[in-house]
This record gives sequence, structure tokens and C-alpha cells, in this order.
Amino acid sequence: MTTMRLVRHFRFLAMLVCVGSAQIAPGCGLAAPALMPQPVFYQPRPGSPALTGGVRVVWQGTRSALLDRAVARFSRRLAMLSARDAAPGQAAGLTLRIRCVTTDPAMLSIHMKEHYHLQTDATGATLEADGPAGVLRGLSTLLQLVERRESGPVLDAAVIDDKPRFAWRGVMVDVSRHFMSVAALERQLDMMELTRLNVLHLHLSDGQGFRVESRLYPRLQQVAAHGEYYTQRQIRELVAHAAERGIRIVPEFDTPGHSYALLQAYPQYAAQPVTTPMDPKRVVRAAMDPTNPQTYVFLARLYHEMASLFPDAYFHVGGDEVRPDEWTGNPHIAAFMKQYGYADVAALQATFTQRVYAMLAREGKIMMGWDELIDAPVPSSIVIEPWRGSRYTVAAATAGHPVVVSAGYYLDLLLPAAEHYRVDPLDPHGNGLPPDLVARANAPALNAFTLDPAARMTPELAGHVMGAEAPLWTEIVTEEMLDARLWPRCAALAERFWSPASVRDETSLALRLPVVQSELEILGNRATADTHGMMARVAPDDTPPLSVLLSVTSPARNYAHNHVFGPSRVAPTATPRPLDQAADIATPDSFEAAAFGRDARAYLAGQHDLMAGLRARLENWRDNDTRLRDMAVHDPALREVLPASALLAQLAQAGLDALGGASAGSWRARADAAVGTAQAQFDASRSLLRVRTMPQPAGDLLQDITPGIALLVQATDLQH
Ligand code: ACM
Repeated sequence: MTTMRLVRHFRFLAMLVCVGSAQIAPGCGLAAPALMPQPVFYQPRPGSPALTGGVRVVWQGTRSALLDRAVARFSRRLAMLSARDAAPGQAAGLTLRIRCVTTDPAMLSIHMKEHYHLQTDATGATLEADGPAGVLRGLSTLLQLVERRESGPVLDAAVIDDKPRFAWRGVMVDVSRHFMSVAALERQLDMMELTRLNVLHLHLSDGQGFRVESRLYPRLQQVAAHGEYYTQRQIRELVAHAAERGIRIVPEFDTPGHSYALLQAYPQYAAQPVTTPMDPKRVVRAAMDPTNPQTYVFLARLYHEMASLFPDAYFHVGGDEVRPDEWTGNPHIAAFMKQYGYADVAALQATFTQRVYAMLAREGKIMMGWDELIDAPVPSSIVIEPWRGSRYTVAAATAGHPVVVSAGYYLDLLLPAAEHYRVDPLDPHGNGLPPDLVARANAPALNAFTLDPAARMTPELAGHVMGAEAPLWTEIVTEEMLDARLWPRCAALAERFWSPASVRDETSLALRLPVVQSELEILGNRATADTHGMMARVAPDDTPPLSVLLSVTSPARNYAHNHVFGPSRVAPTATPRPLDQAADIATPDSFEAAAFGRDARAYLAGQHDLMAGLRARLENWRDNDTRLRDMAVHDPALREVLPASALLAQLAQAGLDALGGASAGSWRARADAAVGTAQAQFDASRSLLRVRTMPQPAGDLLQDITPGIALLVQATDLQH
């Protein structure tokens, strides 16, 4: 739930102090625009050009149709952000000089030139870039310089010099568990362009569906897609939409595991029988038969077809979570392993991997896969994507592989932005999924071949890390939930992947995030619109009380709410649960609760004029409970949130009592009880291990005002 404020400027000294080695020039004042990602160098200047409508472009270097279209897109977006359009016949308000030095033969490769230099002053904007990608990145920064002043919109005057820390800055969307339309993906590409992300990794096949039309194997769309797939023409359009924005699309076709849907269409390549309709108990288990020569004929032809459809140099083959007993439980495969001396399924998978590697090499593709691929030695040019933990980053780099890190960035864990932001792609240890989940995935917890628990990241190993990706697995994410599950957290991660490692101030992040999100929403992001749509379905007569509750609560974390494979998973035969529970609508980052916490802290530090605002919010949260309870009488769908609503009212009352200077008496016991309950609820989903053993709050909702209330309550100790 975003607070739709269009406040481009906010004053905070902390950002300037804490921005670290990003070179913020000294004496740059207190005001800074909400740039995200933070540029490497930023210096404010005098003389912000007014935005009166329209852009006049002066081309000084190379020019192309792609750049013309980028500028047209920029002009449209500038008009939306500034609410100023070019009046017919009127001179354009902004002069934009663009000097693109080369056409960049490496455009849309890992080596594309993204560096840019930007200057805005009273004469307009000057953007210099080494290549077209740099122009695109500079234009996105330019949009973040729009400021709405009382006198009208301006472009903040500044000098910016900027280039990314990592060449690979990705988002992964699983379109198998829930299919996402082309329009939804194109919208995400637009958001990625605006935040300077440059890879969309599409997880195109899994147990639940194979999502691309194949001319060679039409049963893939006739049977394995369950009616939802991209035609080849749509894929070409999507790839072109991404390319326009300097974004590469990396396809993933997951084999040999996670292939149930594919095997429904072509059961002859299955290690163990698959059924139609799908057997929900086996949907994550089914694997291809690596001992059947025809399996490789099928894959070689399929990859040949898909390799020409997806022009990127990189091709992701999955390779994760092969359940050993899918292979060892087949007598023929077991005999094969014995005959050829395969010690374990990892060794057999390595043979599968090497054959796939050879096929893709023939297609001119660079192979990429999840970190299970290094559970046995495989060619070191294969790109490894660590997900089970960042120790696999060290392991893969030590074995000589290029690495794209996703451990620490799993958006489906429903952690707030700051938790992911804290994780650096080069952190050597401690990130990612804990051993218990790894064990559940039947993967070796500590592989004797490469995993050295004492391993450390070194500058040499760091050189193998090309970048990072934020994956969104969609077991419980529908298209309607896509924007709010990706954004604004992907904007925070765009900064982690782009900006210098020293940019890590979470206070600054929290201040900029709502501003950036509101801009993304002006430019097409549907996070707030879609969450309101979902609320309207749950509470058709009156959404505000539900909206008030969900604006300060967030979903329980670490798969506590995931009924598909989390601890509360329903019997596999049950029909799918509709995804419109309160915790499906609530978002991981509550901007309102964050603002409340900031104001509570500032109030306690002496800013007493904040009292009235704090009280008004607390009274609203407290009184909201009565409104919700009245509604729930007629609206049973709301009943699941009533315990959370009651706890919010108790927390709000605790805050009011603390602010009111309530002296001795029972208020404090009640306040401590409410805060204690809310804190225990956070604790119950603090880790994947905890969610297995601890009961979760009713409705799976966490109270995000808890830290602010705790501060106010504790502060009364000092006052008495
Ligand atoms: C994965 O999450 N199985 C890559």
C-alpha cells in the first residue's frame, strides 16, 4: 500500500553522510532527489530547468531508431511525471542534448556499455554515454530528477556520473506456477528499465506448465501448457520490447527435474510414470530419464528451436532439485548406474549436464543453471546461479564458474526490502536457504566436491560474480499480485546490484522507496491499483477499513503463508486455495508503519510538533477495529482479519496511552502484553526453521507499527 505522495525532495542529512564511497560531493546541501539506484557520483548544481511541456532533442553523436523511440518514451514519461504536456505549436520546454559516442557492438550483451554522464542546469539537460545502453540508463535517471515544486515542475539541477557495479542485474519471474500475460511482463520490463535492471530471466517450464509454443513438439502447448502459453510471435515481441529497453531475456527450461508438465506431453522420456490429470504429490518430483538416448534427441531438437527464438547468448537449463529416488527408484536407471559405476545421482546428473552442455555449445549458447549443477564436476564455463546459500557462490567461483547470485534475493519469502538489500552478492556466507530446506530438497547439504565451509570470498573469486537476480516463484502469486510482489522491492535490489557496495544506508532506502514507488505507479506500475482491486473483492461495500488494516500489516514471512510447500500446506489433493486472503493482499513493506516509526523516534528526540499527527494516526488505527467488526457481521470473508485488527487496536491504544503520559496503572501491563504478542508473531516467522514449529498469527498478518509503539511505551520509563 503506497502513500501516493509526489514529494521528490526530502531533507535528510543521513543519506549524505552514509552514502559511503559513492562520491557525493561535499557541501551539496540537505536536499537530495530520490535516486534509486544511487549513482556513483552526484553533485547538485544551481539552476533547475522548469518543465513547461515538451522536449527538444539535440543529437550530438550517433543516433538510431532505438534511441529515437527511447526519447519518445522518455518524453511521454516526463509529461506524466510533471503533468505538463507539449501544447500544439508551442516551443518545447526542455532542451535535451544527447551525445552517444558509439553504436556499441556489445549492446545487449553482458559487455554492453551502460556508463553515462548527466548534467542538468538552466540550459537544459546534457546526457553523454558510451553507448545506447548508457543513454537508456541516463534517461531513467533523468526521470528521477523530476521535482514538483509549488511554482511548478522542474528537473533538479545536478552533475551525475554513473556506471553499474555488476553487469548482470536481473529479475526472475516464474511463469509456470502461475502464467503471466505478455502485457504483465511488458509492464515489468518498463519498471526494470526505470530502475536500470537489465536481465529478465523467465522460468518458462516447471511441473505446472510448459509455457512456450513449439512447432517441433506441439504437444508442449496442446498438453503441457494447460491452455496458457506464449506463441512464438509473442515471445519475439517480448524479446523486442526488452531489447528496446536495454534488457536481455534469458529463458529457462527446467530439466531434468521440475519437468512434470513436459512429461505429461511426452511421457516416453520420464524416469517414472506421470499421469493426466496431474498427480499433485508428484508435481515437483517428476524427472526425465537420463539413461534414455531418445531423451537427448528430444532435448537437442527442442533446444535448437528455442535457441533461435531467444537471441540472448545465455540459456538457462534449470538443473535444480532432482529427487534421487525418481532415478534410483527406476530399476532400469538403477541398473544403468551400477553398470557404469555412477556413485550417486549427482554423478549421473553431471553426465546429463555434460550432454546438454554439448548441445547448447552447438547452438552457440552459454549454459546456465542452478547451483545443484556443481554437486559434481561439470565444465567450468557453465554459469552457476547459487540459490541454496551464498556459500555456493564461493564454491562455484572456486571451481572456476561465472556466477549470478540469487541466494538472499528470493522475493517469495515475503521479506521486506531492507532484508534483501542488506545482502551483498559477494557476501561469502550465511545467506540463502538454511540447511533444513536444502535437505528437504534432497540436495547435499555440504557437498564434498566443492563446498568448503571455511571458504572465503576473495577479490579473485569476486571477479567470477557477474551479478545477481531476484527470483519470484509464483506458487502463490497470481498476475493480479505480480506488481506488488515485485515492486518496490526490486527497486531496492536494483540499487544493491547497481550502486557501489558501500551504499547500504537503510534509513535512506526507507525514505526513498515510497517516492520511487509512487513514480513507478504514475508510470504504469499496478501494485496499489491491483491491491485495491483485491480488497474490493473481499469487502465489496466498503474497502477503507480493510485498507487501513492492510496499510500497516504485512504477510508472515519465510513461507509461513505458503500453503503449497510451506509448513501449513494443505493436503496435496485439495483444490487450489483462492489467493485473496488478507496476507495475499498485504505487502511486505508498509510505508505508513515505517513513517510512523520515524515520527515516533523524532518525537521522542524532541520534535514535539509531531504529537498531533501521531495521535491522529493511532486513533484511526484503534477505531478502525470497530468499523471492521461491524462490516464482518455481514461479510464473512473479513472474519479472518479480526484478530489482527483487534491487536492493531490494542497496539494503537498502547501508543495513545504512552503519548498521553498515562501514569501508573494497568495501561502499562496491557501495552506490554500487546507489544509482546506482536513481537512474538514476528519471531514466529523469523526463519524457515521457525515457521515449521511455531504457530502463526491469525490471518498470517504481522503488525508493522510494533517497533514504533515499543519505542513510545519504553520511553515512558524515562519520563517517570
Ligand atoms: C530453486 O529454488 N529450486 C532454484
